[in-house]
Amino acid sequence: MKSILSKCTPIIVALFTLTTLSCTKYEIPGNQAPETDPVSDPVSVSTCNPDTVYFQNTILPLVVSSCATTGCHDQASHKDGVILTDYASIIKTGEVKPGDPNDSEFFETLTDDGDDLMPPPPYDPLSSEQIQMIRTWIVQGAKNNSCIDGCDTTNVTFAAQIWPMMEAYCTGCHSASAPGGGIVIADYTDMVSLAENGSLMGSIRWEAGYAKMPTNQMLSECNINVLQNWIDNGSPE
Ligand code: HEC
Repeated sequence: MKSILSKCTPIIVALFTLTTLSCTKYEIPGNQAPETDPVSDPVSVSTCNPDTVYFQNTILPLVVSSCATTGCHDQASHKDGVILTDYASIIKTGEVKPGDPNDSEFFETLTDDGDDLMPPPPYDPLSSEQIQMIRTWIVQGAKNNSCIDGCDTTNVTFAAQIWPMMEAYCTGCHSASAPGGGIVIADYTDMVSLAENGSLMGSIRWEAGYAKMPTNQMLSECNINVLQNWIDNGSPE
């Protein structure tokens, strides 16, 4: 594993900003390409630094599910002229001052104790962890950065993978107080019923007959496999 990692690292770094392809897709000189099915044997290579908060991996999904919702800051609604669907539109608001969260309107509204609180009621405010992640991202320069996260679909647990994924990509639009399409994703029981009626995998695989979830961009192949694996194992809590 270690040698694959060190051989892949330069390739990944070179392709870092362009692609999220994994290194099994490349012929490694002097190495035989692994003959395994990438779905059942995903690559466990990560370029993520645990101390860095990455825009594409963490901040964008959070902003899309908490802010770029219908009626708020999506392309069609653009409340107060603010669109928050991608890096360029977030920076264009002028409300993010790289390096300085305290001078960033975008950050301050998250903890405002008056009318400026975002998301506004009836939406739930962001959790203190989520607010802290946005703060760190701004402190670290508010870059449009991303990393390739290793994919381990073997030891999937509800607490470690499934629920954090829902919080990152889904619960902003599916909270009990403001459920998109009337669908509430607030706890384990909600997840099990969506898994059992087929709409969870149908919607995240963007299958015909289901609304496409998340609405802006399909989850990574890794995340989809992690969810499928959890369901295949009987959706354990
Ligand atoms: C930007 C807001 C938004 C995000 C993010 C979002 N949803 Fe939705 N979701 C909606 C809305 C609105 C509907 C109703 C859409 C419709 O009926 O056309 C919906 C519908 C659904 C449905 C029912 C689909 C069907 O056709 O029966 C499921 C299941 C679902 N979402 C799960 C998820 C999951 C899981 C995630 C995260 C991976 C997610 N959603 C992320 C807004 C969102």
